[in-house]
Amino acid sequence: MLKISSPEKLRELSLEAKEEGLTVGLVPTMGYLHEGHLSLVRRARERNDFVIVSIFVNPTQFGPGEDLDKYPRDLARDEALLDAAGVDLLFIPTPEDVYPEGFQSVVHLEHITKPLCGAHRPGHFDGVCTVVLKLFNMSAADDAYFGMKDYQQLKVIERMVKDLNVGVRIEGMPIIREPDGLAMSSRNKYLSDPERQRALALSKSLDKAEELVGGGLIEPAELISEVRSVLEAANLEIDYVELLGAENLDRIESLKGNLLLAIAAYVGTTRLIDNRVLVAR
Ligand code: PAF
Repeated sequence: MLKISSPEKLRELSLEAKEEGLTVGLVPTMGYLHEGHLSLVRRARERNDFVIVSIFVNPTQFGPGEDLDKYPRDLARDEALLDAAGVDLLFIPTPEDVYPEGFQSVVHLEHITKPLCGAHRPGHFDGVCTVVLKLFNMSAADDAYFGMKDYQQLKVIERMVKDLNVGVRIEGMPIIREPDGLAMSSRNKYLSDPERQRALALSKSLDKAEELVGGGLIEPAELISEVRSVLEAANLEIDYVELLGAENLDRIESLKGNLLLAIAAYVGTTRLIDNRVLVAR
């Protein structure tokens, strides 16, 4: 596995691969890899001839007081995992490589960034979209892979690609969970053992919601209130519990069609997110 930090070199190597007729797949990450990331890498390995993984803890998507400085890092372990997964090229730029002096551009999307994490983490999606578009341009990727745990991020990126005629095919991959249901996340590392137990309330509340909708519950407010009670019973501090249209994240009036039930909650000081797409008839 080749390891580089220069954006110019990345583009050069990727274009060389494409000239040889290879397809290029990109998996953008912030490192501290888990099975969720590795499922994206495996998918890229399956579909693409030349697989690039980027590791970059992007400072512009963290707000003041968020966990940029303490975001978990273990490059040696990440490298070993990626090498074993058959990755061709690991791109690890520095903040200066990505944002050289004088940098002043921002990619901003309107409506789809307004609810959920967009409302609770101002500027977050500007940072995500800007870095992701840069990674697309630097890597000249044909395909890029994102996890559905960050469901809003996936939808925002799909929208950006459509709106700006970006020639990258986006593929979303299912959430990978621990055997007990906890959605895999690099931030799970912050949890103490008792907190990890309490964090199970996120996936349990989604299970309950799915059961209720399957059983014919049709009131959005009632469903949200049931989900909130499961989270509150575990002493989690709720950031949001919202039910939106799964395609465009627009407001809904009734429980009908494909709906996104999305949660963000604090377990102690750790903010976790989880979601489920519910199919209501
Ligand atoms: O999902 C992430 O890890 C990040 O938001 C991404 C897509 C790598 C952009 O920094």
